[in-house]
Amino acid sequence: MASRWVLLLSLAIVSVNLAEADLEAIFVFGDSIVDVGTNNDLNSSAKANYPYYGIDYPYSQSTGRFSNGYNTADMIVKQLGDYQKSPPPFLSLTKRMSTFNTTVLRGVNFASAGSGIFHETGQKFGEVIPLGLQIQQFTTVQANITAVLSPDKAQRLISNSLYIISVGSNDLFDYQEKPTVPPETLLINLTEAYCNHLKDLYNLGARKFAVIGVPPIGCVPAVRAHNTSGGGCQEEMNELARAFYNATENLLLEFSIAFNGVKYSLGNSYAITMNIIHNPRANRRHPFF
Ligand SMILES: *[C@@H]1O[C@H](CO)[C@@H](O)[C@H](O)[C@H]1NC(C)=O
Ligand SMILES: *[C@@H]1O[C@H](CO)[C@@H](O)[C@H](O)[C@H]1NC(C)=O
Ligand SMILES: *[C@@H]1O[C@H](CO)[C@@H](O)[C@H](O)[C@H]1NC(C)=O
Ligand SMILES: *[C@@H]1O[C@H](CO)[C@@H](O)[C@H](O)[C@H]1NC(C)=O
Ligand SMILES: *[C@@H]1O[C@H](CO)[C@@H](O)[C@H](O)[C@H]1NC(C)=O
Ligand SMILES: *[C@@H]1O[C@H](CO)[C@@H](O)[C@H](O)[C@H]1NC(C)=O
Repeated sequence: MASRWVLLLSLAIVSVNLAEADLEAIFVFGDSIVDVGTNNDLNSSAKANYPYYGIDYPYSQSTGRFSNGYNTADMIVKQLGDYQKSPPPFLSLTKRMSTFNTTVLRGVNFASAGSGIFHETGQKFGEVIPLGLQIQQFTTVQANITAVLSPDKAQRLISNSLYIISVGSNDLFDYQEKPTVPPETLLINLTEAYCNHLKDLYNLGARKFAVIGVPPIGCVPAVRAHNTSGGGCQEEMNELARAFYNATENLLLEFSIAFNGVKYSLGNSYAITMNIIHNPRANRRHPFF
C-alpha cells in the first residue's frame, strides 16, 4: 500500500511565479504529496514515519514525508525567500504551545496523506483529515494570528500569504476502485466541491493560490504492479487525471474572474512526471546514472 505514495511524492518541482518579496507566510493543504508529518499524529495506515522513508533527509530521519528526502511542499517553499523547508504540521504545533504563537506567523502545513476533496475520501486508511477539515483548522490558526497581531495586521498577513494546494489524486483513486457514476459526473461533482473549498479560503482572506494538478495516477507503482502484461501505466486512470487537470484549469480561471484579487498558478505535475518517465536521461540529476 505504501509504495503507491512514493512515486506521487518524488514528483516534481513546480515553479511558482509569485513575488516572493510580498510573501508573509505559507499555508499548505492537501494530501501525501505535501504532507510533512500530519498523519504521524493520526490513527491512520497512511504513514511514512519509518525507514526507508527519509533516508536522504538530514540525518536519514523519517519525518512522515512520503519521500526519500524533502517533498514537493519543501521544494516549492525553498524557492520562496528564506524558507528551508515546509512550515511544520498543524497537529505537531498544537503540542508545542510555547512556540505556537511565533511559529504560526510564518505558516502552517495542514496536508494529510490519503485525504481528498470529498469528505469521505481515503477512509480506507482510517483517520485522515479531508480538505474541508484542513480549512477548519486554518480558521483556528487565523483566529490565533488575529489574537497575536492586531486584526488589521492579521488580515494583511492572511492576504499576503501563499496557499499551496495539492489534492485530488485520492478522490480519483477511490472513484476508480468503486465507480458509482460516469466519470463526467464525478468530474463535475469534484470540481464543484473543490470550488467550494477555494471560496471558503477566499472568504477567510486568502488571495494567492499555488495549485498543483494531479499527477499521472495510472503510473504509480501500486497500479503498475497490477498490470501483468508489461507493467505499464493504466491509461484509463491517466485519462481521468488529465481530464481533472483540465477541469482544474477551467475552475481556477473562472474563480479568478469571479473573485476580486485572486492570483494563482497551476503546476502541471502530470506533464512534468510524464516528461521524466519518457526522458529519464534528460532529467537525470545524479552524475553516475
Ligand atoms: C485505530 O483505528 C483502527 C481501525 O480504524 C481501530 O480498530 C482502532 O481501535 C483505532 N485505535 C485507536 C487507538 O483509536
Ligand atoms: C487558537 O485559537 C483557538 C480557537 O480560538 C483556541 O481554542 C486556541 O486556544 C488558540 N491557541 C492558542 C495557542 O492561542
Ligand atoms: C499566545 O497568544 C495569545 C493571544 O495574544 C495569548 O493569550 C497566549 O497567552 C499566547 N500563548 C503563549 C504560550 O505565549
Ligand atoms: C455526484 O452528485 C450527484 C448528485 O448530487 C450524486 O448523485 C452522485 O452520487 C455524486 N457522485 C459522486 C461520485 O460524488
Ligand atoms: C499494461 O502495460 C502495457 C505495457 O506497458 C500497456 O500497453 C497496457 O496498456 C497496460 N494495461 C493496462 C490494463 O493498463
Ligand atoms: C485536456 O485539454 C487539452 C488541451 O485543451 C486537450 O487536448 C485534451 O484532449 C483534454 N484532455 C482530456 C482528457 O479532457
